[in-house]
Amino acid sequence: MKITEALNNSYRLLSNVSKTYKLDAEVLLAHVLNKKNRLDIYLDLNQELNIKEKEKFEDLVKQRVTKKPVSKIINQKSFWNFDFDISKKVLIPRPETEVLIEMVTKKFNKKRDLKFLDIGCGSGCISISLLDYFKKSNGIAIDISKDAVLNTQLNLNNFNLNNRLKVLKKNVFSFGTEKKFELIISNPPYLKLSDYINLDHSIKIYEPKEAFIGDNKEGLKFYKEIIKKFKNNLKYNGYLGFEIGDNQFLKVKKLLNLHGFVIVSKHKLINNQVRCLLAKKIKNYALQ
Ligand SMILES: C[S@@+](CC[C@H](N)C(=O)[O-])C[C@H]1O[C@@H](n2cnc3c(N)ncnc32)[C@H](O)[C@@H]1O
Repeated sequence: MKITEALNNSYRLLSNVSKTYKLDAEVLLAHVLNKKNRLDIYLDLNQELNIKEKEKFEDLVKQRVTKKPVSKIINQKSFWNFDFDISKKVLIPRPETEVLIEMVTKKFNKKRDLKFLDIGCGSGCISISLLDYFKKSNGIAIDISKDAVLNTQLNLNNFNLNNRLKVLKKNVFSFGTEKKFELIISNPPYLKLSDYINLDHSIKIYEPKEAFIGDNKEGLKFYKEIIKKFKNNLKYNGYLGFEIGDNQFLKVKKLLNLHGFVIVSKHKLINNQVRCLLAKKIKNYALQ
């Protein structure tokens, strides 16, 4: 079977399942053929798939027909400069989170020996992207989930970054440290329980519940804890970087201001909701 034929067959099966069925098929086929770039499959559309490749591709397409996310089928997700392994039950890194990294890269000199704390590391995507951009940086990453800790360690191994990140299985509500950081960054669980219930079925099956639910009320529990507890672990003029949920900006801003921070940059989505922000700890501000 030729590549064109395999793609066309898959389009027929996937067009009712996914809005991005062409892209999905390309990614799956590129994975089967070990192509680094999915567009490489178009270099020779007459290339014949051998039996093994054909069967593997058909199996992956079948999995996609059940609505399993493509990145969970291939256990890989592109984020920043890397293809992250996401073989454990961790949150699939989202493109919005890359914006948070980009915001940080604009605030610190690339050559800085940045010390950071990443709260709720998941796949390790935030920490590893920071280690990649700031070559002299090092950090601590915590997560309550064993899968997240293992997955972060797996990715650190894959990219030879083990010696610059300490990964700890810790609950943010009981974890404390004496260390000082220039950056504390977190994409914590921020949904209200009622919003989690309405999420797509496939998210609930393939991604961990504890990555999503902030609390039963406004989803702000993690921000309250992080700001209050870790503000003294930030050096003066250090930054706190958050990803936040819809309609949380004003409440998080109020909390930040109360604890001696000012918001210095924010990123809005097309729906006009602030999704990422950076806040600076102001020198000599009277902290509680
Ligand atoms: C939204 S995910 C973010 C994952 C990753 N940083 C990213 O951006 O893709 C939130 C993470 O917080 C972790 N988490 C949930 N409750 C926690 C707690 N009490 N203490 C530490 N981590 C927690 C989850 O396991 C999950 O990995």
